[in-house]
Amino acid sequence: MYTNGRKELTEKIENQINESTKIKAPIVEALQTAYEHPTYQFHIPGHTKGKAVFKDFKHLIGEKALNLDTTDEFDNLGTLHPATGPIKEAQELAAQAFGAKKTFFLLNGSTAGNLAIAMALTKKGQKVIVNRNCHRSILTGLIISGAEPVWVCPKRIDDWSIWGNIEAEQIEELLKKDKTISMVWVTNPTYEGVVSDIKSISNVCKKYNVPLIVDEAHGCLWNFNKHLPETALKLGADAVVHSLHKTGGSMSQTSMLHISQDSTLDEKSVEKALKLLHTTSPSLLLLGSLDAARANLQSENGKKLLSRAVNNAKYLRTRLDNIPHLHQLKGDFGYKTDVTKVFIKIDGLSGKRLESILEIDFNIEVESASDIGVLILCNIGNKRSDFVYLADCLEKIASKEYQDIYYLEKRKHMPMLEPQIKMSLREAFYAEKETILKKDAVGRISAEVVAECPPGISILLPGELITKEHMPYLNDYEFLEVVK
Ligand SMILES: Cc1ncc(COP(=O)(O)O)c(C=O)c1O
Repeated sequence: MYTNGRKELTEKIENQINESTKIKAPIVEALQTAYEHPTYQFHIPGHTKGKAVFKDFKHLIGEKALNLDTTDEFDNLGTLHPATGPIKEAQELAAQAFGAKKTFFLLNGSTAGNLAIAMALTKKGQKVIVNRNCHRSILTGLIISGAEPVWVCPKRIDDWSIWGNIEAEQIEELLKKDKTISMVWVTNPTYEGVVSDIKSISNVCKKYNVPLIVDEAHGCLWNFNKHLPETALKLGADAVVHSLHKTGGSMSQTSMLHISQDSTLDEKSVEKALKLLHTTSPSLLLLGSLDAARANLQSENGKKLLSRAVNNAKYLRTRLDNIPHLHQLKGDFGYKTDVTKVFIKIDGLSGKRLESILEIDFNIEVESASDIGVLILCNIGNKRSDFVYLADCLEKIASKEYQDIYYLEKRKHMPMLEPQIKMSLREAFYAEKETILKKDAVGRISAEVVAECPPGISILLPGELITKEHMPYLNDYEFLEVVK
């Protein structure tokens, strides 16, 4: 009896501790409640909890996922615009977790965040410093708002054919020269993981009294592990965009836009822009996955997964260091790298060739490939055995003769040109256009954004002069749209 009483008491205390330390996930909890208390549904989505869905699809993704596919307003799930109920609470918890004053959940990825920033914080004719290797969504935003980019070209890492870091001095020089520049918008890290000194860039922005926006799409894990670089939210940026779906563990197309603690940016305008951009039927599954990803990163299990990812990256890098003819991009003088993004090349193989050997001979898919190398992401979902297998395969590839089918591609994948601008982005985009053969395009002005994804960095911008240097990047294009 006494023993039973003690057991009950222990269980009660354990439950209380679990309750108080349990990571809250309001959207996930609201979805659970909705699932457990189904209503008679006479509203969208019309498949009605998965009852009217193609059978094979239902079997494939599971009945429960379809049952939970709903949109806001129903079943006490809250609304996205304005944020109410569990969605509001989830955004507030995300702001706390990432160290922001305000966080907006994004559907349509960081693209939606960049568009909203451009629409809310820039206007026609306003000058904004933007790095040449920005994602195409920033260009789209500037086309919409009519603001003018003032280009900053990062340092080049020529051995790897990639853009490197941006120096604070480059930003200062531009701000000193042109007092009408009203915002600085930089990407950090680069797609391959090169990190700029955001603290120094932010100090310069403060000195010239202009807001700093950081597209940290590839750095959403940084606030959750001390071995990763510091997030721009802690280094003085005003707003930061994070693609949680890329590396943070949420479902595809979900991201977050954060406004930093002491920023004076007009967050109401950002919210209004997002309302214009977002669907009016947001998926609760996608929003729930953002809520879950944040909760996971804060949980003990999530912390373990992230530290496993960092350790796996270190393990992989050590193995790679010992493979002859294989090289990996590392932090160097003037820049750092994110350890979890491993960009490699093997002597005598183009990146595209290495990618296809990995795929065809070893059933391995990497994040991306360029003419030079391949990018490997050490994700929170990967096990150590994945990296053992990958390193073993790379060892085999580097030591084997692939010369019989070796070819050098006459194409380039990472746009590395400094644009010669002849018209504004918006003017060129809305100009009268014609479609011409690529071979006739040199000397004409591009009327479109030409960018391959990944990495989504433009080869051509609207308003840019097309030159013969562009041609190796345009192998896949027969026609181009130019200003008439
Ligand atoms: C630097 C950068 N910013 C923004 C985006 C857009 O992100 P999303 O795919 O989440 O819309 C990408 C996508 O690759 C990116 O690389």
